[in-house]
Amino acid sequence: MSMLQVENIQKSFGKTEVLKNISFSLEKGEVLAIIGSSGSGKTTLLRCLNFLETPQQGKIIVNGNTLFDAETFDKVSDRELRRRRLHFGLVFQNFNLFPQYKVMENITLAPTLMAKEQIRENGEYMGAKNMRQAQQAIRDEAEQLLRKVGLYEKRESYPCDLSGGQQQRVAIARALALNPDILCFDEPTSALDPELTGEVLNVIKGLKCSDSTMIVVTHEIGFAHDVADRIIFMDGGLIEEEGTPQQVIDDPQSARTREFLARFNQFGD
Ligand SMILES: Nc1ncnc2c1ncn2[C@@H]1O[C@H](COP(=O)(O)OP(=O)(O)O)[C@@H](O)[C@H]1O
Ligand SMILES: [Mg+2]
Repeated sequence: MSMLQVENIQKSFGKTEVLKNISFSLEKGEVLAIIGSSGSGKTTLLRCLNFLETPQQGKIIVNGNTLFDAETFDKVSDRELRRRRLHFGLVFQNFNLFPQYKVMENITLAPTLMAKEQIRENGEYMGAKNMRQAQQAIRDEAEQLLRKVGLYEKRESYPCDLSGGQQQRVAIARALALNPDILCFDEPTSALDPELTGEVLNVIKGLKCSDSTMIVVTHEIGFAHDVADRIIFMDGGLIEEEGTPQQVIDDPQSARTREFLARFNQFGD
């Protein structure tokens, strides 16, 4: 069974059909890169997966559980929606850290809120029976994640004192702190100066080694070629071509894919 199955997702804004009929699946530990021109629907697709947008049609199934079904979705409570959202983590283009909180607090805030809710409802949060125990566990985990992204020394800094690359690495640690099944990145390096993209791409490469399942929307074609197990090329709200990096990037079958890649080869990425 695939970890993620996306079936026939259709999303319109008013009369504009932005996602036409998107279906794909992803296995545990796989990295999927999504490439495509601006406006092809990549961000909308990630937002649908994170329930930030509601598709008009389709299903999203994680580990065999139907998390989204357009037919029945209006009956889902807000609390249940928040719970379902936890299956996905999202790292945005512009980091979106909370500027008023230190690095450590940026990472511990969401797990702390979740621990409060779960201890109140179920009497425990990941083995912790009270908030003091939970907070210690959350802090320990956050320290580990900061070590993983190479920023333990910056744990007491504010986002404004970090470079863009460092802020994005904190945003990755923050997304990981909620233990998502699938981590999604929306052009994680496109707001960075070229000399800072490498440190962020290296963190993502490192996550692949630790078997994280990831979807990365990216314009870094070389990175997608090296790190992705599979590539989807989106065009006009459709999956125009899909396959291994060798198939899609080295030997594209569709004229649209060839045209898109030729522009990258011409201007660099
Ligand atoms: N909230 C929205 N309301 C109306 N149109 C939108 C909205 N979000 C995205 N779109 C439109 O959907 C299309 C796809 O956008 P997007 O998913 O951001 O593409 P990409 O990430 O591939 O550049 C664009 O034409 C965009 O203008
Ligand atoms: Mg986008």
